Amino acid sequence: MSAAVVPKLGPVPRGTYLRDCWYVAGWASDLGSAPQQRVFLEDPVALFRDEAGTAHAVSGRCPHRFAPLGQGKVVEGALMCPYHGLRFDGSGACVHNPHPGGQLPENRLQVYPLAETHALLWIWMGDPDKADPALIPDFSWLSDPRWEAVRGTALAEGHYELYSDNILDLSHANFVHPALVAAAFTEGERRFWQDGETVHAEYIRLDDYLSEGIGGMLGRTGQKQDFYGWVRWHAPAVLYFDFRAGPPGTPREACTLLPSLHAFTPETPDTTHYFWATARDFALGDADFTAGMRAALEFAFEQEDMPLIRDSHRLMRGADFWDLRPLVLNGDGGGVRARRMLQRLIERQRQQPAAG
Ligand code: FES
Ligand SMILES: [Fe+2]
Repeated sequence: MSAAVVPKLGPVPRGTYLRDCWYVAGWASDLGSAPQQRVFLEDPVALFRDEAGTAHAVSGRCPHRFAPLGQGKVVEGALMCPYHGLRFDGSGACVHNPHPGGQLPENRLQVYPLAETHALLWIWMGDPDKADPALIPDFSWLSDPRWEAVRGTALAEGHYELYSDNILDLSHANFVHPALVAAAFTEGERRFWQDGETVHAEYIRLDDYLSEGIGGMLGRTGQKQDFYGWVRWHAPAVLYFDFRAGPPGTPREACTLLPSLHAFTPETPDTTHYFWATARDFALGDADFTAGMRAALEFAFEQEDMPLIRDSHRLMRGADFWDLRPLVLNGDGGGVRARRMLQRLIERQRQQPAAG
């Protein structure tokens, strides 16, 4: 096993984020008539839907006495502050003042571009002029009726890059997920590469047994399979996991596919919004199957991955990742590339003139 210490690359100051990119803000169907108060990249954000059902993201801090606007309610399509009742529309303008005189303050709330696509809400925390929905990675299977997805949302403790490392380095599966354990993840062939700003990690194992958990999910317990795992990382921490398995010799495209989303949106340097989903195109409408799949995946991500990453993060005690001189193992080829790419993108953003 090779182990080396990677030289320091120049730290990104704690609390510095890539802002000119799309982050997942939530599942679209979870935002109903009640607004939501969230923190993304340490900024308070209120999410709400207007009368037409269009979702908006505005500053979650009222400019009067700084109350959390997302804890208010929507009245006549505008977001009403829970404290003294000012109302703001989706453009950030104050449209109603219930107090004598009723003058409308000129203060506008900061507005964040928000796109509703692939069953998700995507928020742009940077320069609004650069917010191009075409930059949103393709997760169309999440809203395609040919696929049935189980999904989850969790507020996870730990830095978001530790969470993307975890998906890019699937070699942890043998140790962290006993029910999903498969030699494929630790002993299989691995390949890591970069294509533009996208980082890829691939795991291939031919003619071997799948784990009990995955074999059971595919109805192939005790049968040898060819296995292909392909992770795609999009900055800053949106990952697609393309898992395929089929009887030995099956062309890769003809193998059964289980597509997954793992999207990490920093809340603070120490906490992360974790959105995950895995879909199938068989056993559609089978509620028992869905319940079993959800339980297995929720347990793996939320009860096995999250506590371990939380505890690792605590042991780092706020130090810069590279300052701790981490060992680099063979499975880290994706995580290290993603960290370097994110660092470069943050550096590029820092060199650009601030938005007017
Ligand atoms: S704090 Fe919002 S209206 Fe006073
Ligand atoms: Fe895991």
